[in-house]
Amino acid sequence: MRPRGTRACIALLQDSDVSLYQNATCPRFPTCTLLSSPILDSTLLAHVLSVSIKSLAAKMSVVILGATGNVGRHIVQALLDLGGSLVTQIVACTRQPLSGPAMALKVAANSSRTRLCLAKVDMMTSDVDSLAAILSGHEVVVLVMAQGLSPEEMVGCQKEVAEALSRGMDKHEKQPSGNPPLLVKLSSYGIDGPLSQGPLGDAHRRGEDLFRSKNLPFVSLRPTSFFSNFEAYDWPSLRAGGRVIRSPLGPHARVNWVACQDIGRVAAAVIQEHLETLGNGRQASIPVFRKVDVVGPEGNTLSAPEVCRVVGECLKKEGTGPGDVEREVRYEETPLPTTEAYRGLWTFLRAGGFDVADGPGSESGRLLGGKAMTGFRDYIEGLVEGMGEAETRGLPLN
Ligand SMILES: NC(=O)c1ccc[n+]([C@@H]2O[C@H](COP(=O)([O-])OP(=O)(O)OC[C@H]3O[C@@H](n4cnc5c(N)ncnc54)[C@H](OP(=O)(O)O)[C@@H]3O)[C@@H](O)[C@H]2O)c1
Repeated sequence: MRPRGTRACIALLQDSDVSLYQNATCPRFPTCTLLSSPILDSTLLAHVLSVSIKSLAAKMSVVILGATGNVGRHIVQALLDLGGSLVTQIVACTRQPLSGPAMALKVAANSSRTRLCLAKVDMMTSDVDSLAAILSGHEVVVLVMAQGLSPEEMVGCQKEVAEALSRGMDKHEKQPSGNPPLLVKLSSYGIDGPLSQGPLGDAHRRGEDLFRSKNLPFVSLRPTSFFSNFEAYDWPSLRAGGRVIRSPLGPHARVNWVACQDIGRVAAAVIQEHLETLGNGRQASIPVFRKVDVVGPEGNTLSAPEVCRVVGECLKKEGTGPGDVEREVRYEETPLPTTEAYRGLWTFLRAGGFDVADGPGSESGRLLGGKAMTGFRDYIEGLVEGMGEAETRGLPLN
């Protein structure tokens, strides 16, 4: 087992760039051979080490690709909510550090003890060397690929990340006391189940096979349908007074919905657990691969007509009197999309691929410490009351 604190010794060495210290014995952690000075008084060195180790051992950094998105910004917020004692730094990657969503992350971090830095990264155009430089030196790397990427772009993006992390791994292996970072990847529920999710699910699976083949420790977070889909595709017309929800789901298939905020909380809990494991010097117990399904509660598993009923009931609360009945919402089935990727996804959904619900003893339930996940009806009520506007504008909710 690696001694606690050796990472801090290395950090001290790197920070001071004192090559003289190399290959000597660390007075505080005898199995660490990287530190100790042949020229410094040993009492002084022990003092320097103890101060540095205290401050540096607590320096836990998380880098997030896709930090400004539907889920990424909630991961940032949930990490900020941990209070700064565990995660001392978040590096939020974005293509546009001056954009509203990026600035909103900075504002959210203002009142936190966790330091938040914005890094300009384009997952699609960044070369492996630049990506490796951005991803190195963190305990955790979070990967959230943009929703609009094609399957080929998703595979390409995961290849780049795998290559960048492998380069970092090689470096870590040369340093006996270094730990490779944990990759926490946003994936999708059921990508290796009996029903095919089509090219989009296959793209997730191919990336994950690659991470596994390269022995990169990673956690695959597998959510069902995001609330943000409703907000992006259905809410704008309902909000403007429309009374129809259209989709290719058909009248019978049921889909489970999950709040992006809850996915963010589960991701933060996974990260917290990992950092605590590192802090306790139990690196050996970190599994190389872990899958965590993130599924909403039973009441969130709804057919399209059931969604219409819930939404209609919530909208009715807006006004009073007999006119309310006019706010009833109707479902209209549309043809399957023509693009292969989305046709595959909707075929999967129509076949019941997301017809699941969170139950007692689930991994995500344990990670949330028994805290309930957001109900679909509560979420719609929030939208109707205007509380969901922040989500539409891409701002953190808390
Ligand atoms: N929607 C669902 O129901 C669902 C269900 C299960 C799994 N998933 C998975 O969840 C992931 C999507 O998560 P999300 O909705 O949180 O992501 P997202 O909001 O679509 O995108 C995340 C960030 O990626 C950056 N981005 C957007 N377009 C880009 C592009 N063309 N090239 C490079 N960067 C781009 C944006 O940041 P900047 O503009 O700041 O750079 C954006 O904030 C996908 O992998 C999807 O398969 C989704």
